[in-house]
Amino acid sequence: MEWRQSWRPWLRLFVMAAAAVVITQEGCVCGGDVTYDGRSLIIKGERRILFSGSIHYPRSTPEMWGSLIGKAKEGGLDVIQTYVFWNLHEPQPGQYNFSGRYDLVKFMKEIQAQGLYACLRIGPFIESEWTYGGFPFWLHDVPDIVYRSDNEPFKFYMQNFTTKIVNMMKSEGLYASQGGPIILSQIENEYQNIEAAFHEKGPAYVRWAAQMAVELQTGVPWVMCKQTDAPDPVINTCNGMRCGQTFGGPNSPNKPSLWTENWTSL
Ligand SMILES: *[C@@H]1O[C@H](CO)[C@@H](O)[C@H](O)[C@H]1NC(C)=O
Ligand SMILES: *[C@@H]1O[C@H](CO)[C@@H](O)[C@H](O)[C@H]1NC(C)=O
Ligand SMILES: *[C@@H]1O[C@H](CO)[C@@H](O)[C@H](O)[C@H]1NC(C)=O
Repeated sequence: MEWRQSWRPWLRLFVMAAAAVVITQEGCVCGGDVTYDGRSLIIKGERRILFSGSIHYPRSTPEMWGSLIGKAKEGGLDVIQTYVFWNLHEPQPGQYNFSGRYDLVKFMKEIQAQGLYACLRIGPFIESEWTYGGFPFWLHDVPDIVYRSDNEPFKFYMQNFTTKIVNMMKSEGLYASQGGPIILSQIENEYQNIEAAFHEKGPAYVRWAAQMAVELQTGVPWVMCKQTDAPDPVINTCNGMRCGQTFGGPNSPNKPSLWTENWTSL
């Protein structure tokens, strides 16, 4: 999209309001409110050191969320991370469940109400010590499907679910670029562990996943964890023991060092 100087002054207000959206459309890493460089994430123009911890919403009840998030805040956390659990949300193709313990929007709003940020790790392969790594079992019956590879049937369902989640977050104004709490989202999960098994289809899948995610235009950065070949502008983050000592670093001098998981023991 291109702005013309000939536009009348009364249009200027509209142009300013739309600027955040335009920037992301042009492929800049900058969202409305969350940007980064080689030193840090930058939120609303300020460099931030952020401490995060995970609370997986379906592992507790909505009645518990407020108190769990409150304790995380009291303990000094700035960001709550969660995976998104595909097999709970789409028990049959195209049939969704976001009620009760699966109410992701309510969980995000609770994080926002307590003044914390969120990192939404969509996956949708999540591992997470969760049944089937979060994949719905019906995926298994899709003809010719090869999971987590450059494979059309798999990519269709992965894109379909990822789009569903991103659109839901957007429609509730939950991305930081919209004034919401979500400052980062994750696509895939520790894929590099198995990438070589797919030969040339592995790297091709990584490139596809990154591009598919970026094109969803959340206005906030995407991360891939344990993925040294994470394509720009996706940030490769550390999951590992003592990331401060062991992380090889981001794959570009323009990306900050972030840990999505810093294990204290094996
Ligand atoms: C996702 O797939 C369902 C059918 O399973 C279809 O109804 C829906 O339109 C698709 N959504 C997108 C975003 O492709
Ligand atoms: C959706 O999930 C909730 C939480 O497990 C469950 O109680 C409810 O029965 C499910 N709804 C449908 C329509 O399956
Ligand atoms: C990461 O974990 C190590 C212990 O393995 C700990 O010493 C260090 O403070 C942690 N770093 C952060 C940023 O939490």
